[in-house]
Amino acid sequence: MAVVAAMGTTIIFLSSCGCLYLLLLFINFFNKVWWTPIRIQSALHSQGVKGPSYRFLHGNLKEIINLRKEAMSSPTELCHQSFSRIQPHVYLWSKLHGKNFFWWKGSQAQLVVYETEQIKVVLNNKDGNYLKPEVQPYLKKLFGDGLVTTRGEKWFKLRKVANHAFHGESFKDMIPEMVSSVEMMLGRWKDHRGKEIEVFQDFKVLTSEIISRTAFGSSYLEGQQIFEILTRMVLIFSKNLFKMRIPGIGKLVKTQDDIQSEKLGQLIRNSVIKMIKKREAAMADWQEKVRNEILELFGQQNPSLEGISRLKTMSMVINESLRLYPPVVGLLREVKKGTKLGNLIIPEKMEVHVPSLALHHDPQIWGDDVHLFKPDRFAEGVAKATKNNISAFLPFGMGPRNCVGMNFAYNEIKITLSMILQRYRITLSPNYVHSPVLVLAICPQHGLQVTIKAV
Ligand code: HEM
Ligand SMILES: *[C@@H]1O[C@H](CO)[C@@H](O)[C@H](O)[C@H]1NC(C)=O
Ligand SMILES: *[C@@H]1O[C@H](CO)[C@@H](O)[C@H](O)[C@H]1NC(C)=O
Repeated sequence: MAVVAAMGTTIIFLSSCGCLYLLLLFINFFNKVWWTPIRIQSALHSQGVKGPSYRFLHGNLKEIINLRKEAMSSPTELCHQSFSRIQPHVYLWSKLHGKNFFWWKGSQAQLVVYETEQIKVVLNNKDGNYLKPEVQPYLKKLFGDGLVTTRGEKWFKLRKVANHAFHGESFKDMIPEMVSSVEMMLGRWKDHRGKEIEVFQDFKVLTSEIISRTAFGSSYLEGQQIFEILTRMVLIFSKNLFKMRIPGIGKLVKTQDDIQSEKLGQLIRNSVIKMIKKREAAMADWQEKVRNEILELFGQQNPSLEGISRLKTMSMVINESLRLYPPVVGLLREVKKGTKLGNLIIPEKMEVHVPSLALHHDPQIWGDDVHLFKPDRFAEGVAKATKNNISAFLPFGMGPRNCVGMNFAYNEIKITLSMILQRYRITLSPNYVHSPVLVLAICPQHGLQVTIKAV
């Protein structure tokens, strides 16, 4: 009898524990998807910061998807106005709510910071309040748990090794490797003179080739973890991750997608062929200027490290291209604890977004010719081009977590362009469709078809 009673009490006890646990889970969930968003929203509203309203669970994600679909289906805004096409939500909301607005990535609030001073504080991160956000597991698989994603002591150690690996002197050994890789690519081009080639694919292969050669052949790269990042990057480039589709339903989606993009392609082709022709004339001028610079510095010789640093005109052209089409469109940080940013009190658990693409396309910073390809604006450097808002040009980020591979990238681009232009005159193919899209990075949706003619 006593045993049964004891069992009864235990069961009642256990089940009430279970109920309590469920209740706690529910409260926690409710707190996360309702109470916290509402609290953050009113905290920001009371400071005059506005944005699209929070919707239960999905935040503003549905709106973003719809805006993107709409933007991508309109072939009208071509030229270089890629901002309103690639991030229509940032474009629209900054017009509606001001440049300092906030939006909801699901139940995660994201504050857009825009002012020069704010950006400096966030990215320089002097007081340690702005951390790289925890990455989603699928991204961790992609980048590994290395330099790009870690924080704290572990990051510090990796970064030291990487800084050393990509330091000025270290490039001495990398340049010949880069040159050989480009030579291999140009070898493949030989049969294509006068014909069309697709260089987006070629450049992906080239980059992965260069990275694997320099990383695995170089004695400077010792950190185990560095190898890991570079391998991942090679994988990203070479395995053509952008075309990866979910198995099973992949086929269905693909046909739909392909029909859609086929139609769009035709529309765009028809409506802009004239525009491209005009632009191409301007581009050809710059191609000639850069070629002259290369021939003056190197003649028919392969590029050297000293020569590369003197390619001024090319550097302007590269920067202008990175301004209009920055591969990384924005930088993200997480606010660990509530903090003050200028006059603004940012509640804890917010993410802060520095909108590089938007900044690169702001007429207030760059002038009314902001949507034109005008490398001349960089003739006297970044400060002059941005009217002293150097934090408005962020292709490689800024501060302690800026791109460790920046010089590597500049060197690769400069060597590749030099060696191509020494040999060939490039024109866009009539088959090229200008459709920059965001798939991890900005890239040309239908590839980049050009024709080459021997100089
Ligand atoms: C045109 C080419 C490239 C662009 C536009 C680019 C852009 C960027 C940007 C914007 C960041 C900063 C992200 C942030 O602040 O949240 C970054 C970080 C990084 N990049 Fe690049 N990158 C390029 C090429 C490379 C290459 C070639 C390498 C390696 C060889 C590389 C390795 C890294 C690493 C390791 C980080 C993380 C650094 C850290 O957090 O300490 N990048 N990159
Ligand atoms: C650019 O700099 C000027 C002062 O040099 C400043 O008044 C302006 O607010 C800055 N623009 C942005 C977007 O921060
Ligand atoms: C191009 O941009 C880089 C920073 O990304 C800068 O260091 C370099 O001076 C710029 N070159 C020119 C000509 O503006």
